[in-house]
Amino acid sequence: MRRIDPQRVIDIIHEQAGRTRTDRYCPGRPPSVFRCMDTDFGQEMAGDVLSGMTGSVKSIPCKYLYDAYGSRLFDRICTLPEYYPTRTELSILERNAHRIMDFFSEREGSLVEIGSGSDLKVRSLLRNLNGPSARQVRYVPVDISETSLLRSAHRLLDDFSWLSIHALVADFTRHLDCLPEGRKLIAFFGGTFGNFTHEQGVALLQSFVRVMGRRDRLLLGIDMLKPAGIIESAYNDRSGVTAEFNRNILQHVNHRLGADFRPGDFEHMAFFNPDKEQVEMHLKARSHVMAHIAEVGLSVSLRPGETILTEISRKFSRTRAMACFDEAGLVPVNWFTDPDAWFSLVELAALKG
Ligand code: AVI
Repeated sequence: MRRIDPQRVIDIIHEQAGRTRTDRYCPGRPPSVFRCMDTDFGQEMAGDVLSGMTGSVKSIPCKYLYDAYGSRLFDRICTLPEYYPTRTELSILERNAHRIMDFFSEREGSLVEIGSGSDLKVRSLLRNLNGPSARQVRYVPVDISETSLLRSAHRLLDDFSWLSIHALVADFTRHLDCLPEGRKLIAFFGGTFGNFTHEQGVALLQSFVRVMGRRDRLLLGIDMLKPAGIIESAYNDRSGVTAEFNRNILQHVNHRLGADFRPGDFEHMAFFNPDKEQVEMHLKARSHVMAHIAEVGLSVSLRPGETILTEISRKFSRTRAMACFDEAGLVPVNWFTDPDAWFSLVELAALKG
């Protein structure tokens, strides 16, 4: 496994102060930013889109839903009345943050947040830091977007001025070896785990296990099974934000790969597949569609009604979640949920041989 030298000089960008200099991690400073990205995003996207659009079922990986506009749309989705996961997870956090943050009551360590995006959830945890080592906690947000990392880091420092922030610009499916040494609580909120297939999800959990010590914990958000109608409304909101979010993936492909998709040629389609216990989000061609993706030299043709799969979102029973944890070598030490058991936050420890 690639291991980053912990003493490696960190490139600190004091963007807001208008300075650029190098420095080592040190508490009480402006956020340090460490870039782990090692591949060209455009190249990676070209490879992914080429294989997705030439497969037997056409697809585009869901990570490409999140360009700047897509991320803003997702933030709006999280506030929609139909989209229950965000507010339910937040309510679980509010109720249990003090217990979760006991992790830091006696000893310092890092609070790692994977795919950090908005800072709402971590705020709830930080407000509940108590004990002698509380102020020595280092916050390590991990996200692919440096802009959003810096924006939320500075917002957090406005309210938690004592906090040390060590931001990692990284793809969490590949760069967990960039996480700092030492004890850590890794938070992976939002039910993003459900956007991976079983095999991908287990592989991801195994990559967490590899960087976890015996006393480290993974706090994993998972969306639970519930009546299909509730799930389907969450992905078919009346204001059409999810439909716009879905179609925007084509604008992202157009912009990055010189394609000429017309998003209006596609209908948003999201339904719960009970056999696979997952929501499937598609773009369905309204009529015969032809498009060209210049960067990969590919012409695409879709029959009327043919779809492009843009996302799966798995919903879990406890049994199914436990099967993933078992396979990855994780064991639950706490299972937090809401009164309806719609969402779970599971605190997991790594079983190390
Ligand atoms: C990010 N992820 C957990 C969301 C979900 O619910 O699967 C993405 C999303 N797709 C449509 N609405 C929200």
